[in-house]
Amino acid sequence: MSSILLIGAGRMGAALARGWIAQGRGPEITVLEPSVDAGFAKALKKAGGRLNPKAALIGAPKAVVLAVKPQVLESVAREAVRFAGAKPVFISIAAGIALRKLGTWLGDRAAVVRAMPNLPAALGAGATVAAANDRVTAAQRKLAGALLSAAGALEWLTDESPIDAVTAVSGSGPAYVFLLVETLAAAGIAAGLKPDLAMRLARLTIAGSGALMQSWPDRDAATMRRDVTSPGGTTEAALKVLMAPGGLAPLMAKAVKAATKRAKELGA
Ligand SMILES: NC(=O)c1ccc[n+]([C@@H]2O[C@H](COP(=O)([O-])OP(=O)(O)OC[C@H]3O[C@@H](n4cnc5c(N)ncnc54)[C@H](OP(=O)(O)O)[C@@H]3O)[C@@H](O)[C@H]2O)c1
Repeated sequence: MSSILLIGAGRMGAALARGWIAQGRGPEITVLEPSVDAGFAKALKKAGGRLNPKAALIGAPKAVVLAVKPQVLESVAREAVRFAGAKPVFISIAAGIALRKLGTWLGDRAAVVRAMPNLPAALGAGATVAAANDRVTAAQRKLAGALLSAAGALEWLTDESPIDAVTAVSGSGPAYVFLLVETLAAAGIAAGLKPDLAMRLARLTIAGSGALMQSWPDRDAATMRRDVTSPGGTTEAALKVLMAPGGLAPLMAKAVKAATKRAKELGA
């Protein structure tokens, strides 16, 4: 049975591990995390996983998942080199940190996968993009693929260069959607709704629209938008504002550009 070592079980690391638990891999999981969430610790224990065992008891993992912040990744990766003897596949989910840099920290011969998941991974509804270095064997790629797929859809790239833009679109994207809920609710309050009703309506509208899109994977978003826009109606009046020059499209382009730039800075 392959064993999985997860280093860092914050928001993303714990979301991934919950997916592995749901796959029935609980007994394979060892987690190293200084400030673990009590709910996650309970779920891990119940599934037969191990939390912060003594170093000598960690054994020889087949996959080492690095899920710490980019700022501390170098020291964590350099320490994780001690597991290299077992020839694991190292999987980094850190924003901005390129395969070449991971290779300098983990050793030239290390098999490394760089992946970018997103927060809906917690429900198995995430979107992950991954790229592997040339040390990754077919079996390691299969194992990495199985672990990352627990978070939802997975796409492999042959070249890692688009990952900073992926980070800016799907990695950071859930926060843009949460902001959309906040701003829609605030606009509702300004239009005269009570705050709690405005927030409930904004949440339900965005969650429901997302679920609708999931249920129609072959229908593109622009068609769905046109389908609900009657000529001369209320939706059209709002969309004229959102789609005007200087509206949502250039603002979103600017936001994604800023996130892509920041991903590159984190890896510099
Ligand atoms: N959150 C997202 O939506 C998202 C999406 C895609 C990718 N990512 C990437 O995922 C990584 C983790 O992000 P996150 O949002 O999950 O951050 P987070 O919630 O801060 O989780 C990181 C965890 O790692 C722990 N940690 C720090 N040093 C450690 C060490 N030496 N050994 C073991 N654990 C250690 C931290 O503990 P302390 O708090 O005590 O330091 C923290 O609990 C980042 O590299 C990020 O770029 C995140």
